[in-house]
Amino acid sequence: MPRPLRRAVALAAAVAASALVLAGCAPDGGGRPPATSSATAHARRSATPRPTPTPTPTPTFDKSQLSIDDPTSIWVVVNKLRPLNPRDYVPPDLVQVPVQHVYTPLLRKEASDAVVAMFAAAQSEAGLGLQSQSAYRSYSTQVSTYNGYVASRGQAGADLTSARPGYSEHQTGLALDISSVPAACTLAACFGQTPQGMWLAANAYRFGFILRYPADKTAITGYEYEPWHFRYVGVALATEMHDEGVETLEEFFGLPPAPDYAPGG
Ligand code: DAL
Ligand code: ZN
Repeated sequence: MPRPLRRAVALAAAVAASALVLAGCAPDGGGRPPATSSATAHARRSATPRPTPTPTPTPTFDKSQLSIDDPTSIWVVVNKLRPLNPRDYVPPDLVQVPVQHVYTPLLRKEASDAVVAMFAAAQSEAGLGLQSQSAYRSYSTQVSTYNGYVASRGQAGADLTSARPGYSEHQTGLALDISSVPAACTLAACFGQTPQGMWLAANAYRFGFILRYPADKTAITGYEYEPWHFRYVGVALATEMHDEGVETLEEFFGLPPAPDYAPGG
């Protein structure tokens, strides 16, 4: 075909093709939006380009990032069905906690630092004085503690408030019994109604602590309400439990309730 004619044929084909597209009937269906009025198209073109929205990721908390079995893990779950392994475990990094106390308190370093920060915040934010009542207890100390409760309350009564040796969170170096300064309702349920007890219940998570034995969870934890007993689990886990409204480690990790010891426990 002579060149001018070839150009004319090509031009005609192009015009025909674009007419089809404009009519919204591109041969392949096109995947294009239907033609819009020129006013709308103009508005679209001149509108301020909107930033592509960044999808908000739904953060999923990884419940397996730390061990709940290893006694050196700050997530270790200790209860009547989950003794420390070994039962005479001694934490590796106990330090003396530099806070007001009744008995000289030892805790693992990370938990000690958190207690110092929490007690300072209670004082500076709310004018409340706190002290350590009891912190780390060795296996042999827990023998004396538990036997003392058995002597005064009988075994069934003791088991509702004191762990048997090898089953106490106090032996992890991550648990602390807290009392008020000046002392009021020490190691008693009414501590939960004191300004100190209420402040701790509301704020402990900010420092990585949970109230380990809530009032209505005896069937799960195996222990009566202990508004003074706080367990360090780290800020990430304590905050996640707080935000999810899950109070016990058993519920959070999907562990069986532990109201009683296994036979021979
Ligand atoms: N009072 C808590 C349960 C303990 O003895 O560890
Ligand atoms: Zn305690």
